[in-house]
Amino acid sequence: MNRIFSGVQPTGNLHLGNYLGAIRNWVNLQNDYECLFCVVDLHAITMWQEPDQLRANTREVTAGLLAAGIDPKKNIIFNQSQVSAHSELAWIFNCVARMGWLNRMTQFKEKAGKHKENASVGLYAYPNLMAADILLYRATHVPVGEDQKQHLELTRDIAQKFNNDFKVDFFPLPEPLIFGEATRVMSLKDGTKKMSKSDQSELSRINMTDSADDIAKKIRKAKTDTEPLPENSKGLEGRAEAANLVGIYAALSETTTDAVLTQFSGDGFAAFKQNLADLAVAKLSPIQDEMRRLMADGAYVDEVLRDGSERARKMAEPVLNEVQDIIGFLRA
Ligand code: TYM
Repeated sequence: MNRIFSGVQPTGNLHLGNYLGAIRNWVNLQNDYECLFCVVDLHAITMWQEPDQLRANTREVTAGLLAAGIDPKKNIIFNQSQVSAHSELAWIFNCVARMGWLNRMTQFKEKAGKHKENASVGLYAYPNLMAADILLYRATHVPVGEDQKQHLELTRDIAQKFNNDFKVDFFPLPEPLIFGEATRVMSLKDGTKKMSKSDQSELSRINMTDSADDIAKKIRKAKTDTEPLPENSKGLEGRAEAANLVGIYAALSETTTDAVLTQFSGDGFAAFKQNLADLAVAKLSPIQDEMRRLMADGAYVDEVLRDGSERARKMAEPVLNEVQDIIGFLRA
């Protein structure tokens, strides 16, 4: 059976990029695959997190996954720190991956910025932990946004090197699943930067917890150009902000960019933004209502994570044991 693993960091509010690039796809995939969805708190602490905030964010992100429609009975939803095999396999992968491979990771360069010397060792080794997440369950498919592609290539390199070094055919080489009209949702303020939790400007992103008024305001204030909307996607070339808004509309309405342009071609942005705001509010508000309801019932969310962690542990243990045998660790 094909198996999916994917994860999301509890580092702040879930935003529209997380939803359209990843979570909504997970909801659709849960019927065709055996799935594990992980709130990756070990990854979160590669940058400083306030302890109370980390706990609250872990619950909020979990509520977001549930509210979006992921079924916790059919799938496994859990937080990474509660399955210690992730850390154990990550250490082993620290010894498989090469420095040269990690030196090429663009996310480390972006996140560490100019102060590389000050970044945590964890931030540098982050992709090895991600490889451990996926390979611990011998997942075959990994649905993510475009920004995670390089990390998945590294995961395949690690799996391959492990198999070669120990002359085994143990880890599958997982395939990325990157699809939909919003694999890379951009900042509302700068069409060359991706929408991200860490952007200083609140106006750059739509959070899953934003009120209808805030969503409408952020879309109204989104950067655009002065040209009307073109007839087809070719006309969006060189118009990053326009392309982003049209892409968001297409993803939210589950259609294509060209279909959206057929509908709005020739319109100015004032009218288009109004339509986009109405659509975003209509699509997001049921999820938001459900998130609020779940957040008010913290015990249920905790129980989902507890149950998920227990099931994940059971799956992880035999794989880790086999890895230990392959490596030559004595299990006396
Ligand atoms: P994270 O928490 O940054 O993002 C979670 C998911 O959302 C996608 N995403 C986006 N998609 C489209 N447009 C955007 N602007 C955008 N921003 C975020 C991400 O691609 C991701 O799919 N390293 C991962 C978490 C992780 C993981 C894993 C993922 C840890 N272990 C194992 C898959 C498999 C991350 O930081 O995601």
